[in-house]
Amino acid sequence: MKTVFVTGGAGYIGSHATLAMLKAGYDVVVLDNLHNSSCESLKRVEKIAGRELHFIRGDIRDRILLNSIFKEHTFDTVFHFAGLKSLHESVSYPLQYYDNNVHGSQALLQAMMNAGVYKFIFSSSASVYGDPTVIPLSERHPVNQITNPYGRSKLMIEDILVDLAASDPRWRIAILRYFNPVGAHHSGLIGEDSNDIPNNLLPYITQVASGKLPKLQIFGCDYHTHDGTGVRDYIHVVDLADGHVRAFDALEKLSGAHVWNLGTGKGYSVLEIVHAFEEVSGKKIPYYFGSRRTGDVSASYADVTKAKNDLSWEASRGLREMMHDTWRWQQMNPNGYK
Ligand code: NAD
Ligand code: WQD
Repeated sequence: MKTVFVTGGAGYIGSHATLAMLKAGYDVVVLDNLHNSSCESLKRVEKIAGRELHFIRGDIRDRILLNSIFKEHTFDTVFHFAGLKSLHESVSYPLQYYDNNVHGSQALLQAMMNAGVYKFIFSSSASVYGDPTVIPLSERHPVNQITNPYGRSKLMIEDILVDLAASDPRWRIAILRYFNPVGAHHSGLIGEDSNDIPNNLLPYITQVASGKLPKLQIFGCDYHTHDGTGVRDYIHVVDLADGHVRAFDALEKLSGAHVWNLGTGKGYSVLEIVHAFEEVSGKKIPYYFGSRRTGDVSASYADVTKAKNDLSWEASRGLREMMHDTWRWQQMNPNGYK
């Protein structure tokens, strides 16, 4: 039985991917410092999977810890979710972002090399595309227009991975550029636990729906989109997690570093999301139009042809299911994992 190492596995996407790997029959060791998560998510993953995993609380920048973990276990593949993820926070704290994301990834990759583990699946982001010049965004779209430290930290790691793959043919690397992950596992047991006032659209809407926040501010109504509000490619987190299992399978036959977009290929505006959520939840979402948010792009959605062809993967969950699952998670866990 293969064992995989999952960094950041207690977090939103990592917990769903850990579940997908347990369900696919693999043994999983999770490393997480719980900076933005709780080990309750992993207890619930075990409950849904009906299997146990091995959890280690610790930091990816702790090289001594990493070397001891790689000595104790024989890993087939490393899934690397750990990192800081707020684009807006990264503008105020760039050093924290470069340290955690770039330096943390370097420490992890070095520990892998020390142990002779060469399969790596990396959580990158559509934010590396910056302001798109052509949509849908294919993996060939230029990545030189990034406007924030978070996106740059992701691109720096991508560059390190491409260099590593060029240096040694044993590396098999999947760089997965996620679009906008939303939703939760249909059990309602695991989902996105937002600590503070959320930055992202869906977590904000659910807090308005549950009465914790009074109104949604829609950032801009003068974009060149069909209704003037920003358009994004929202992807169900369970589809995203399945994409990781497919990438893991694909790396059996591929060497080198490969980039895949993980999105649905469809764009929805902020107003379409608000209305879809209202329809599914039966809740009215009061909103008002504010000015554009600095750094936001008008429209971003993926060309998913490459993932379809190479990974035989495509997102299957539509907007209603994303909204239903988000709302179920919020209702069952009004205070997240607390
Ligand atoms: P998350 O914050 O829920 O999960 C990240 C996990 O990593 C958390 O459990 C956190 O405690 C842990 N962590 C952070 N720094 C660590 C460190 N130094 N050592 C050990 N653990 C550490 O975020 P998420 O939404 O699940 O995102 C997972 C990955 O996907 C991140 O790398 C993120 O940048 C990337 N990503 C997320 C999105 C999104 O919208 N959620 C989009 C694109 C890419
Ligand atoms: C979606 C749309 C907003 C909140 C970010 C990162 C990206 C990825 C996912 C990590 C936009 C509008 C939002 C609100 C609003 N994360 N909005 N009112 O900005 O597309 O992507 O998170 O990698 O890299 O950039 O996601 O959910 O913040 O915004 O009107 O209160 O909703 O303007 O059009 P975004 P988002």
